[in-house]
Amino acid sequence: MAEYLSTTKKKITAPLYFEMKQNGEKISWLTAYDYTTASIIDAGGVDTILVGDSASNVADGNMTTLPITVDQMIYHARSVARAVNHALVVCDMPFGSYQVSAEEGLRNAIRIMKEAGVDAVKIEGGAEIAPMIKRMVDAGIPVSGHLGLTPQSVHKFGGYGLRAKGDAEAEKLIADAKALDEAGCFCIVLEKIPADLAKKVTEAVSCATIGIGAGPHCDGQVLVYADMLGMNRGFKPKFLRQYADLYEIITNAVGRYVNDVKTADFPNETESY
Ligand code: KIV
Repeated sequence: MAEYLSTTKKKITAPLYFEMKQNGEKISWLTAYDYTTASIIDAGGVDTILVGDSASNVADGNMTTLPITVDQMIYHARSVARAVNHALVVCDMPFGSYQVSAEEGLRNAIRIMKEAGVDAVKIEGGAEIAPMIKRMVDAGIPVSGHLGLTPQSVHKFGGYGLRAKGDAEAEKLIADAKALDEAGCFCIVLEKIPADLAKKVTEAVSCATIGIGAGPHCDGQVLVYADMLGMNRGFKPKFLRQYADLYEIITNAVGRYVNDVKTADFPNETESY
């Protein structure tokens, strides 16, 4: 695995992102929501672990990201932060934690940093939240933006389809990215937008862009770990590359274990005291 590790073996920091972008070093992200998974993913050499609010779906079994709370995000993020030595750890600010006011958003961002021990937060939204992001950055909190398909707005969009297909939405997205860049974001996640638009955004901003379903021109890529490891059988969108079939491996191992218990083959003499 060593040749796939980031060229820097040090702990990844938010300021390092600007160097990586300038040097053309692509930035790898994966999600994680618990200690054991995060420690394995960190050992694999990923640059950043995102404690995404996709925890609401993947870890908690909800249909959307909307139900997860600040307390639940802190629980997941603290478990991940304890496991990680190399990767930058970013925690999503959940739905409802920053929409009411900039003060409340700032207070919740500070709470997440203090109680979860993560390195940065991520927030969905464009120019309208840029003043709040500037206050967070001024308070010492590295912030990642998130544009395009923003799952916390699924009910407004009416689904999880491709965003910014038309000129008006594409122009707004570029303006939003510039506003987030000027507010001090160290990176912006671009979710499910055309590859050409992601290229334009990547060239227009000084911070790094991290794509998911946004093509090859972004400065980095992010996937949900359970999807890329094949743990979620029903989910196979065009943008997903699956690197393992853990569903098959785990159900097979569980089946063999059940059989060994039923046949009294497990435990045997060497496995007993
Ligand atoms: O919550 C999440 O996992 C995310 C990624 C899909 C970018 O925001």
